[in-house]
Amino acid sequence: MFSTAFLDLPALQGASGTVTLPGSKSISNRVLLLSALCQGTTVVHDLLDSDDTRVMLAALRQLGCGVEVAGTTVTITGLGGRAWPAEAIEFFMGNAGTAMRPLTAALAVQGGDFTLKGVPRMHERPIGDLVNALRELGCAIDYLGNAGYPPLRVRQPTLRLDKPIPVRGDVSSQFLTALLMALPLAAQDRAITIEVVGELISKPYIEITLNLLARYGIAVERQGWERFVIPAGSRYQSPGTIHVEADASSASYFIALGAIAAGDPSKGAQGNGIRIQGVGADSIQGDIRFMDAAAQMGAKITSGPNWLEIQRGAWPLKGITLDCNHIPDAAMTLAVMALYADGPTTLRNIASWRVKETDRIAAMATESRKLGATVEEGPDWITIHPLPAGQWQRASIHTYDDHRVAMCFSLAAFNADQVPVRIEDPKCVAKTFPDYFEALFSVAHTSAQNIPVICIDGPTASGKGTLASRVAAALGYHYLDSGALYRVTAHAALQAGLTLEAADEAKIADLARRLPVRFEGEQVLLDNVDVTDAIRSEQGGMNASKVSVLPAVREALVDLQHSFQRLPGLLADGRDMGTVIFPNAPLKVFLTASAAQRAERRHKQLISKGFSANIDSLRADLEARDARDMSRSVSPLQPAQDALQLDNSSLSIDASVAQVLDWWQGKSR
Ligand code: DC
Repeated sequence: MFSTAFLDLPALQGASGTVTLPGSKSISNRVLLLSALCQGTTVVHDLLDSDDTRVMLAALRQLGCGVEVAGTTVTITGLGGRAWPAEAIEFFMGNAGTAMRPLTAALAVQGGDFTLKGVPRMHERPIGDLVNALRELGCAIDYLGNAGYPPLRVRQPTLRLDKPIPVRGDVSSQFLTALLMALPLAAQDRAITIEVVGELISKPYIEITLNLLARYGIAVERQGWERFVIPAGSRYQSPGTIHVEADASSASYFIALGAIAAGDPSKGAQGNGIRIQGVGADSIQGDIRFMDAAAQMGAKITSGPNWLEIQRGAWPLKGITLDCNHIPDAAMTLAVMALYADGPTTLRNIASWRVKETDRIAAMATESRKLGATVEEGPDWITIHPLPAGQWQRASIHTYDDHRVAMCFSLAAFNADQVPVRIEDPKCVAKTFPDYFEALFSVAHTSAQNIPVICIDGPTASGKGTLASRVAAALGYHYLDSGALYRVTAHAALQAGLTLEAADEAKIADLARRLPVRFEGEQVLLDNVDVTDAIRSEQGGMNASKVSVLPAVREALVDLQHSFQRLPGLLADGRDMGTVIFPNAPLKVFLTASAAQRAERRHKQLISKGFSANIDSLRADLEARDARDMSRSVSPLQPAQDALQLDNSSLSIDASVAQVLDWWQGKSR
């Protein structure tokens, strides 16, 4: 997951390959609650791991459910047939509507002393219609802040089940879902009828609810979309095992990707289009119908029960006018596809956008305008005009703590003008798809010149590694410690019984070309063996310096170094990053510090690790290595002509990081 302040998406040119998507948020949280209300144990496979499901799991634990998590499989031991907690409990619901609404209903029908709170935005999301319906039924619920909104306090109810329970259906279908899931708790002796007031929106989500209730033994009788009857004697029954299908709303970004992005001709048949694994034509999620809307805009889609394949069809896409009531969440993705269309696109009947994680109509309009688009909006509609080549602007997309805004606008990176797109607060995707950007980068491609490289070169112990990895972490970029490659090469050569001299040059180069090296966090693995400590020693550095003077060895490591240049960008540290390996890098830093300073830092470092060390001999070693690195015939240590020099002798690490980030901002403006 990217937890940086922002993520700069380089201009992207195409996409191809297969993605496996995380489990559906709607299904995951419903399944968790239903499993909690059952008697016995339910094994849930492919559960989404996200903010929303964590909130639900935490609440279920607080209630005394058994919860065992093993990767994406979660085993829930339900509360059915057991006493619910009598003590007061406070639940923190974050911004998870799919947890807040149904849990409120279940707690209110069951009764107890419960407080439900959330983040400030949760306290702005309406819940009055659900509370009214629950009060009608005899539930005891108080508002602790503003009437109609969380936080709430729930007490012991005096249930009145004799007449139908009215619930509004035109603000959020989650209210009806909440009642449908909670009321079987009270339907032991009599049938309970729910009556929908107003036009029911987001019907497909109700379909998911009914479908899953049936899997848990509750056969709700649906009369049109107005009346729902929970039969007398209803009892939740665990299905034993249940699989969560992949999230159809998440699929929308990759369906759109397939429709927008050209394939990769270099990959032949494999390079043509996007395959989505885990959700397909048999999905019970309403958002799967997004594929029809995408097809209308031009996507070429084929499907199987649990997979989809998408290719570019019409290009530019075709502008459409569509009632989006049936695909409220996925429809946001159409708004971004609209930028690539041949005429305006109008999305109608989307009033629910205004009460989601943020006011999504306002958010989509504001952020599209930043890119240069013309957008009109009304209370329940939005019209987006296409953005022709020549008019795309570089923008920093604000994401309003709304995962869908972030994921939608990532698709703007395919713009015709090849301008990069900045996504602010990229970690907000964690709500439903923590690894969204990783998934995007696994299928998206672009030319090497679009993938930024920042080079940090300089002498031994100048602090390059710390600086480069800190800057990489701040930008969410990959990190290449090229020195480690020379260190590992020397290590492998010695292990193979070679000398580090010119006599063995060809053999060492051969080893270097096939180096089975892997970086895992701070660890360096050679052939799956941890060699971190061995190569990080002073001797390891000396050995590296020796093999690094051999031209054939340097040549052998070039491809490996280039392979680190991957989306979204790279921080490369070494001696010749800016001069030889990435000569076109847009930012090159040459980091120096006085020999005395460097010897002192290295001394401190060694002492802190419990090694004995002598400053004078350290300094002599450093100077010897510098001399060799600077005087060798190939790729000698020297600043690139266009490198910016940074002497950090008297700078803190934070100050050096800030300086490099500042230079980078300047370059990318
Ligand atoms: O950065 P370091 O101390 O881990 O590097 C070890 C040696 O590897 C260094 O003395 C010179 C060599 N090296 C190189 O020649 N070219 C690079 N790009 C990186 C390191």
